[in-house]
Amino acid sequence: MDGVTLVDHPLVQHKLTLMRDKTRSTKGFRQLLHEIGILLCYEVTRDLPTELVDIETPLATMRSPMLAGKKLVFAPILRAGVGFLDAMLDLVPSARVAHIGLYRDPDTLEAVEYYFKAPTDVADRLVVVIDPMLATANSAIAAIDLLKQRGARDLRFLCLLAAPEGIDRLRKAHPEVRIWTAAIDEGLNDHSYIVPGLGDAGDRMYGTR
Ligand code: URA
Repeated sequence: MDGVTLVDHPLVQHKLTLMRDKTRSTKGFRQLLHEIGILLCYEVTRDLPTELVDIETPLATMRSPMLAGKKLVFAPILRAGVGFLDAMLDLVPSARVAHIGLYRDPDTLEAVEYYFKAPTDVADRLVVVIDPMLATANSAIAAIDLLKQRGARDLRFLCLLAAPEGIDRLRKAHPEVRIWTAAIDEGLNDHSYIVPGLGDAGDRMYGTR
């Protein structure tokens, strides 16, 4: 699918299957989300540019690659996006974080902003917007709108599961924002949940249901 990277690594697929299982405990779900977060972060950063720098090993001098170019911002959409954050910061400890608080109005399903805090230099950084579930894409589109209003110009979207409807809507609203996902499911049900999906990601990771 155009503009979408499907992360079909066997470890990711295995862990995702464990997470979908409704008998998985809160603790197990959270642990698996962390593990998949590391693997997805690895994929979303796969093409970051590097530059050669001069170093001295204990045996010789050499030119060796280091990350170059723009620094990163991870932008989790509260609250489920936070489930990936620690894993991604483990891999990229120097990344900055933009927190985006959006909730789904239960009647209109529109994304409503209640919190937004981003680094001031977001315009000069690569921003990875994080939300495990790309369902209607209302939150994803609203989050990216907000980040663009603050100057962000280079954005990616990282999720665990996507519905085809969500991918279509996000691609139409922000065609330049590439999407990384571990799976594309069948579609949305009448309550805009992803089917077969894994249920409410926030509730499952925090044990609130
Ligand atoms: N958010 C979730 O947590 N789950 C879905 O299936 C859709 C949106």
